[in-house]
Amino acid sequence: MTAILFVGDVVGSAGRRTIRTMLGELREELRADFVVVNGENAAGGIGITPKHADELFKAGADVVTLGNHTYRHREVWPYLEEERRIIRPANFLATQPGRGTAIVEHDGVRLGVVNLAGNLYMNQAAPALLAIDDALREVGSVDHVLVDMHAEATSEKVALGWYLDGRVTAVVGTHTHVPTADARVLPGGTAYITDVGMTGARGGVIGVRREQSIAVMRTHMPQRYDPAEDDPWINAVLIRCAPGGGAEAIEQILRPAP
Ligand SMILES: [Fe+2]
Ligand SMILES: [Fe+2]
Repeated sequence: MTAILFVGDVVGSAGRRTIRTMLGELREELRADFVVVNGENAAGGIGITPKHADELFKAGADVVTLGNHTYRHREVWPYLEEERRIIRPANFLATQPGRGTAIVEHDGVRLGVVNLAGNLYMNQAAPALLAIDDALREVGSVDHVLVDMHAEATSEKVALGWYLDGRVTAVVGTHTHVPTADARVLPGGTAYITDVGMTGARGGVIGVRREQSIAVMRTHMPQRYDPAEDDPWINAVLIRCAPGGGAEAIEQILRPAP
């Protein structure tokens, strides 16, 4: 039975260290055939560089997904064109570098991965719930499809889950960095969770050093943001696939780094 491990937003050096130390063992323990990692905050808490993407691949990621911080670091722009295992939201403009879908294969099983970004508070080029149809056509006929919906609004993620129920194996939400308690397999057979959470320092404010975030909220004055280091955890989900497509189970994996 195919299993997919999906890891929530890796934030900064604490997140990358957690991936380096935990992902290999976790993959073995959970017998995950595929590992998909959201890496949009891997570099210093915002965006990703080719070096940090390579680090995630080396640690065991088969596919890296992104989000609203995709283009923060200029050096990743050409990398997104060259490296097929890293994807940015499919509903970005066609003129923006990179692609929105990837296909990977393991032991004769083909997994399609789609990245989408929400529209509410995130201003993407096209509505996610429209763009997904084209993205699924682009993926074509594969054994399983996992969709990473990178969005702020819970409503938009829930709506996408229902829209895709029975059409894909899993719809997983990212971006808020806080795991939600609604992981389940929908009636049509699609595994769903509104937010997987983040892989990074739980002792901060969604990845930022807490004293800096508190200062901004108390003073309304700009302040530098550094990634938090305190109390790193991995937040992930394991999706057990059904033989004929769809999912049998989705389980949250929430563990402190050793
Ligand atoms: Fe994000
Ligand atoms: Fe994020």
